Amino acid sequence: MKKTKIAPSILSCDFGHLAEEIRKTEAAGADMLHLDIMDGHLAPNLTMGPALVKKVRELTNLPLEAHLMIDNPDIFMNDYIEAGADIITIHAEAYDIDPPSNRKIKEVPRTVKKIDEKKLRRDLERLKSKGKMAGLTINPGTALSVIEPFLDTADIVLIMSVNPGFSGQKFMPEVLPRIKELRPKFKREIMVDGGINDKTAGEVIKAGADILVTASYFYGADDYKKAVETLISVSRPL
Ligand code: DX5
Ligand code: ZN
Repeated sequence: MKKTKIAPSILSCDFGHLAEEIRKTEAAGADMLHLDIMDGHLAPNLTMGPALVKKVRELTNLPLEAHLMIDNPDIFMNDYIEAGADIITIHAEAYDIDPPSNRKIKEVPRTVKKIDEKKLRRDLERLKSKGKMAGLTINPGTALSVIEPFLDTADIVLIMSVNPGFSGQKFMPEVLPRIKELRPKFKREIMVDGGINDKTAGEVIKAGADILVTASYFYGADDYKKAVETLISVSRPL
């Protein structure tokens, strides 16, 4: 049976002790680090940018995934490559052919119906041509069919199980059928992000996910190693 991978998101770590937190995350057996990049527009929060990613790169050899919850990822993705990210994950919502104007950013999560497919394909291919893994992600309110034409190109699909913005939100169980639907259609790794904990991880893995992102559950634990072990053990079939 293949092993569930754990990707802690440093969004919930103690930034005052970043080096120590990353050392402890490695020692706990994490498979990679998930870096939540938000622009205050696609997602209703501002978090970190290339300077912090560069610092994290200096602190660890773990694979780094930059989860770009930003508009215009084509303009910024190179900065994250240069900062040392190995996987760059971009949002389908950022490719809306008719982006919402005057949206209440803090109240209305982004979804998309029709995207600029040519541009998204170009960007995924650009990432791959630079030797990076191209991740593609969608928010809970966007139909899976929007990303289906890209399942041959994306190296990873990230299914959001909360609306982007903050760690510590509640897992949305309505995404489970989406993971199940995607599983036979996508041969590479499926990652799930948002509300993952000892209660939700099992169902997510059973639905077909390979990689679990975790911020508040992992960094809220007294013992990080135990948190990883628990997530893996609840993911095993009985
Ligand atoms: C949500 C971010 C997530 C988040 C996960 O906007 O993309 O990666 O930090 O946090 P938890 O695991 O606490 O739901
Ligand atoms: Zn994330």
